[in-house]
Amino acid sequence: LAAGVEFGDSQALSALLASLPQTAAARQAAAIVSGAKTKLRKKAAIPKPAGPTREILSPIDGSAIGAVADAGTSELPQAMDEARAGFRLWSRQPVDERAACLDRAAQRLEAEAPRWLRLLQLEAGKTLDDAVSEWREAIDFLRYYAASARDRWGSPQSMPGPTGEDNKLHCHGRGVFVCISPWNFPLAIFIGQVAAALVAGNSVLAKPAEQTPLIAIEAVALLHRCGVPASALRLIPGDGEIGAALVALPGVDGVAFTGSADVATRINRALAAKDGPIAALIAETGGINAMIVDATALPEQVSDDVVASAFRSAGQRCSALRLLCVQEDVADRMIAMIAGAARELAVGDPRDVSVHVGPVIDADARGALLAHIGRMSAQDKSGAITHFTGTLPADTPQGGFYVAPHIFELRSAADLRSEIFGPILHVVRYKASELDALLDAIEAKGFGLTLGVHSRIEATIAHILDRRLAGNCYVNRNMIGAVVGTQPFGGFNLSGTGPKAGGPHYLARFCIEQTITINT
Ligand code: SER
Repeated sequence: LAAGVEFGDSQALSALLASLPQTAAARQAAAIVSGAKTKLRKKAAIPKPAGPTREILSPIDGSAIGAVADAGTSELPQAMDEARAGFRLWSRQPVDERAACLDRAAQRLEAEAPRWLRLLQLEAGKTLDDAVSEWREAIDFLRYYAASARDRWGSPQSMPGPTGEDNKLHCHGRGVFVCISPWNFPLAIFIGQVAAALVAGNSVLAKPAEQTPLIAIEAVALLHRCGVPASALRLIPGDGEIGAALVALPGVDGVAFTGSADVATRINRALAAKDGPIAALIAETGGINAMIVDATALPEQVSDDVVASAFRSAGQRCSALRLLCVQEDVADRMIAMIAGAARELAVGDPRDVSVHVGPVIDADARGALLAHIGRMSAQDKSGAITHFTGTLPADTPQGGFYVAPHIFELRSAADLRSEIFGPILHVVRYKASELDALLDAIEAKGFGLTLGVHSRIEATIAHILDRRLAGNCYVNRNMIGAVVGTQPFGGFNLSGTGPKAGGPHYLARFCIEQTITINT
């Protein structure tokens, strides 16, 4: 709305706001609008938000595109009570009805494409390509989880009854789920977590990333319009402190979190320290994702796949390639080719369809990435060799948060110690005889999200895959963009607790199972 998204006429806007349940989401929607064009506010007679609001800046040019009234910690106990009441109501709805809400939301999301794509561009700085794939993924999550719930939980599963008893396995929601989602997929991951928790029969307190609450507000309003009761889904916008307070609330039955490994570890500790029932944790974090390229790989294909994996979405995907490992014999040629391809990338305003690399999310992210580039470029200290330094074109929007792509060669795989979340690729060379040592070094980082392999030797591929280094392994292709229902996505070790979003077992993690045995 405020984000310049064409909403239609003021009548439609008033109708929408009137139809929203008077929940936090409704107040938030009003808050966005009130931060918008005064003309629109006057016409639609939108109420001003009650409390103080925080401006949301577009990464494209740093301009304010809306405002949000963050939740306060004092509101949380009541939110929890309402969610508990919502759970009692919602969990008793037939699975088919819960799934139908998701299907309706998918249909509306699909029908309202331009509005969602524009919002993704403005609030998250996505290129049109990236916005389309994220919007598509959100629709896929809704439909996939709706279908999975119907298939598996429409009726209880009959178990063998060798003694003549009737045994049935039932699945129910666990209770109140806290869903905490990241800014890099503010629609798809937000809606994916929430949809899975809801369709499994839970009520949800959803905290979006503090950088991208506007899309979340819209997504919650959409789900409410599609039949999810306000008490079963409430938005709790705010920063990390609110997230921590939510997790610490008594009565949390489960947490679905996507974000950094550090925060996941803190959530794990906080849940473990609480008295009462043991809450489930579904965590998906990042990784220092590697791609191994041997001397038999096809150079042109490698170059395309490396550039897409490292620089698409400005490197802001948890699946993105961070460490490219090239067999020494072909390294010079391969690195030169990749640097040449990177030189062709257009950086700038993501609304320009010829742009490949848009902004990073905010000033903090840009600051951290520029500091890393500074350290890597100081060759005498870092020991790194700079193979490519991108530049920002003169017409890059002022006030935006842009970082040009860079490629640095490191002395060894061990030199990359943390996940660098942006368009910066690190490269190492390895000798064929050192492949196992390289795999050990990748494993020693402790993550396990994505891994790429480029080789035409089946035995090499099998040997690398046998090490089970990552939850998603991609052979002879790029390593981003897992497709819902096709490439279940998620990692293990420091990369997460293992559930695969968009996979057949995901919903089970949001459920309790109950066996009922009847002596007939
Ligand atoms: N699901 C996304 C991908 O596969 C993760 O960031 O790229």
